[in-house]
Amino acid sequence: GKADIGLVGLGTMGAALALNIAEKGHDIAVWNRTPSVTRDFHAGAGALADRIVPTETLEELVAALQPPRAIMLMVPAGAPVDQQIAALRPLLEADDLIIDAGNADFHDTERRARAAAEAGHPYLGIGVSGGEEGARHGPAIMGGGPRPAWDRVAHILTAIAADYQGTPCATWMGEGGAGHFVKTVHNGIEYADMQMIAEAYGAMRDGLGMPPAAIAEVFARWNDGPLQSYLIEISATVSAATDPATGQPMLDVILDRAGQKGTGRWTAIEAQHLAAPVPAIEAAVAARNLSARLAERQVGAGIFGAPQPLAPEALGIDQLEQALIAGKVLCYAQGFGLLAMASEAYGWDLPMAGIARVWRAGCIIRSAMLNDMAAALEDAPARNLIFAPDFSARLQTALPGLRATVATGASAGLPLPALAAGLGWFDTMRSARTTANLIQAQRDFFGAHGFERVDGGGSGQHGPWAGHGMG
Ligand code: 6PG
Repeated sequence: GKADIGLVGLGTMGAALALNIAEKGHDIAVWNRTPSVTRDFHAGAGALADRIVPTETLEELVAALQPPRAIMLMVPAGAPVDQQIAALRPLLEADDLIIDAGNADFHDTERRARAAAEAGHPYLGIGVSGGEEGARHGPAIMGGGPRPAWDRVAHILTAIAADYQGTPCATWMGEGGAGHFVKTVHNGIEYADMQMIAEAYGAMRDGLGMPPAAIAEVFARWNDGPLQSYLIEISATVSAATDPATGQPMLDVILDRAGQKGTGRWTAIEAQHLAAPVPAIEAAVAARNLSARLAERQVGAGIFGAPQPLAPEALGIDQLEQALIAGKVLCYAQGFGLLAMASEAYGWDLPMAGIARVWRAGCIIRSAMLNDMAAALEDAPARNLIFAPDFSARLQTALPGLRATVATGASAGLPLPALAAGLGWFDTMRSARTTANLIQAQRDFFGAHGFERVDGGGSGQHGPWAGHGMG
């Protein structure tokens, strides 16, 4: 018999996905640009080798597949995807399906989906989250593209996806680039969640002078409470680790210069395109960019000095936990707000509660809170998450801790940019009257841009400064 599905690209993620697919009982044909990689992969597949068909040319790959074919691409985002599609398409029949399972920019996916549709070919862009471990044993899968194409492979994708109490974490999000857009926002939230945890670490390390082992214990304790999540769990693990080479705490020997492949940045860029306010996510992206400027930061430390240590009573660990709870709610509310605006702007009809559900297991941001977010979004998908009664109540409880943390950090010079940005967003969201009236007056003064009045009369009204401005 022929294989059920094909896979191109046996890097870390591709190899893990292929083994996962084989393990779930599907025959899979695989191909990699370097044939020795394919041979080694097959040789190392153990008991699963029987379900894996190694191929050395794309022709061989196509011939090994049961028509109508489905081929998953797991190659680096950008040009390699276009090159792979260009190489494969001439070898395929009209209704053969190409699935990009990498971290694509959703604009690329939209373009590729359009080109495929114009030529009469099905094309899917799916976001796959969970790192190598997730890909191997159960990722979260966010699908996008024509629904019939999704339905053709849904049985395989749901079989390999993570399971949350009997519900598979694989969901069709909408047409075109919807799946990759949702994955991009997942990563933006991932950046903010990670950054806020790192800020709490900084408050404990630099503010309270705690060693990594003590910080590890705090994270482990938090993981038994409302913050229960994969990211808190691994923060405890990495904080407790020791460097085999020096015997020092592992965290102390890792350079504080964060990398990024771009998906968090894409979230900030897309949010700006849509005028969606996501300052906690933007602050997290900026924090990675700032971290990269190591030499400049060293000059800054030399001129301005390091943050002041805090008196132990200045900030309690419980307040810090509350700060993270509030920060988490705020950054997810921003992320879901962006998704709602994109859904409207791009006509996707994104399943808001379904997105929270698909993130409950398998993906990097999986956490206990996502199940409650799914319930809140089920009630009112377009509502700001902080207005859902469950989350309003949590915020009321946790906000004093967030305020104390941000205020104490600011007094001591401890950088807490994502937590502070989350709080700034919140305090604006609860302002029935902001200071944008002054912005409007300034715009009207220098550019005659016009404003609306509180007592009505429509737009385009002007102040008593006509002729004084520059415009
Ligand atoms: C996931 C991750 C995964 C990844 C990215 C982000 O959901 O499994 O988001 O896609 O780790 O590569 O990494 P950067 O931090 O390099 O942008």
